Amino acid sequence: MYVCLCNALKCRQFKDAAKSGARDVPSAFKACGAKPRCGRCFEEAARMIAGVPQRDPCAVPAE
Ligand code: FES
Repeated sequence: MYVCLCNALKCRQFKDAAKSGARDVPSAFKACGAKPRCGRCFEEAARMIAGVPQRDPCAVPAE
């Protein structure tokens, strides 16, 4: 499923960016080699990023 139509980025790409260490939308775009444009996808992209567990196995999720 496409999340960002401006850059043709799919949900998998945002999830992979998060797994690689991206913690927010700008860093996820950077990891994907893209630049944010219209901003319509930011909310969905943030949810994709937040849905991926932290890389640090010792990290405790906030409750
Ligand atoms: S849809 Fe992602 S920047 Fe426009």
